[in-house]
Amino acid sequence: MRLVGAELLESREILPGQWLQSYHAPRLATGSRAGQFVHVRTGDLSGLVLRRPFSINTVDASSGTITIHFRTVGRGTEWFTHLRPGDPIDMLGPLGRPFEVDPRSQHLLLIAGGLGIAGVRFLADEAIRDGRQVTILFGAASARDVYPSSLLPDEVEYVVATDDGSMGHHGYVTELIPAYEAWADQAFACGPESMLRALARLAATRRGRLGVAKLGRKRGAGRPDAAGSTAARRKAFLQVSMEQRMGCAVGACLGCVVMGTSGTPLRVCREGPVFASDEIEWEGGWGR
Ligand SMILES: Cc1cc2nc3c(=O)[nH]c(=O)nc-3n(C[C@H](O)[C@H](O)[C@H](O)COP(=O)(O)OP(=O)(O)OC[C@H]3O[C@@H](n4cnc5c(N)ncnc54)[C@H](O)[C@@H]3O)c2cc1C
Ligand code: FES
Repeated sequence: MRLVGAELLESREILPGQWLQSYHAPRLATGSRAGQFVHVRTGDLSGLVLRRPFSINTVDASSGTITIHFRTVGRGTEWFTHLRPGDPIDMLGPLGRPFEVDPRSQHLLLIAGGLGIAGVRFLADEAIRDGRQVTILFGAASARDVYPSSLLPDEVEYVVATDDGSMGHHGYVTELIPAYEAWADQAFACGPESMLRALARLAATRRGRLGVAKLGRKRGAGRPDAAGSTAARRKAFLQVSMEQRMGCAVGACLGCVVMGTSGTPLRVCREGPVFASDEIEWEGGWGR
C-alpha cells in the first residue's frame, strides 16, 4: 500500500452519470492486481473528510496509467467529475485482497451487475493475458445503462441482460447462469448485494445440481485450507467483490464489516473486498 500522487489524463462520461477517468500513477499501475481498490481523497475540504473507494478498473503498466469507473451518487463522486486533465489528486492503494484464479482454470465467468463491471473489468485483462477464456454476463436496468462492448477486450464473450428487455436477455443477469455454469471453471462477481446473494445460493448447490467436482479434488484428502486463506479462495468456484461503505479502508475503524460464516466479522477493506462466496453469512442481515 502506498500513498501516491496521480495526475488526471482523461475524463469522460461513458454512460449517463457514469465516468471513466484515467490517471498517470505509475507506482499503482505496476503493483496492483484485479479486485483491489484505491482510496481517493477529494480536494473539497468543506466537509468531505473521508476518502472514497473505487475499484481499480484497468491498469497499463507500460504507460503508468490506471483507470477508475464510477457513478455520481453524491458529493464525493460529483467532485471528481469537475477535475480537468493535469489536475493532481492523491490515491492510497492498492488496497484489499485481489481475486485468486486457480492455475487450472481455463474458463472464467465474470458476472457484473451495473457498476459492478468496474470490480471485475481488470480481471478480464489479467485472464486474457494469461491465455484464459472469459465470458462476461452483464446485467443492467435498461439498454441506456449497458456498459459499452467497445471498452472490453475483443477476446471476451459479452452477454447482456436488461430488466426491461430493451437489450439482450429480458430479465435478471442471474437467469443467464444456467447456460454457463457447467462451462465455467470459476466465477467472479461484483454488483448489488441481492445479486451476489442469489449467485452465492447457486454456487452452494452447484455441485449437487451439475455433479461437478470441487476444484482441488485431485490433490488428495489432506487438511482443508483455512477459510479465508489465499489457497481456499483460489479453489472456490465463486468469488465475490463486496462494496460496503468505508471509513479508513485500512482495517482500523470497523466501519465496513460483514458477518462471516465462521461467526467472525470480516473487514471488507482488509479481509476483502474479494471473498469466496461461502465465507459470507448471506442471511445475516449485515447490509448497509
Ligand atoms: C471496495 C469498493 C470499491 C468500490 N468501487 C466503486 C467503483 O469502482 N465505482 C463506483 O461507482 N463506486 C464504487 N464504490 C462505491 C463508491 O465508493 C461510493 O459510491 C462513493 O464513495 C460515494 O461517494 P459520494 O460522496 O459520491 O456519495 P455519498 O454522499 O457518500 O453517498 C451518496 C449515496 O451513495 C451511497 N453509497 C455511498 N458509499 C457507498 C458504497 N460503498 N457502496 C454503495 N453505495 C454507497 C450512499 O448510501 C448514498 O445513498 C466502491 C466501494 C467500495 C467499498
Ligand atoms: S473501512 Fe475502516 S476497517 Fe474497513
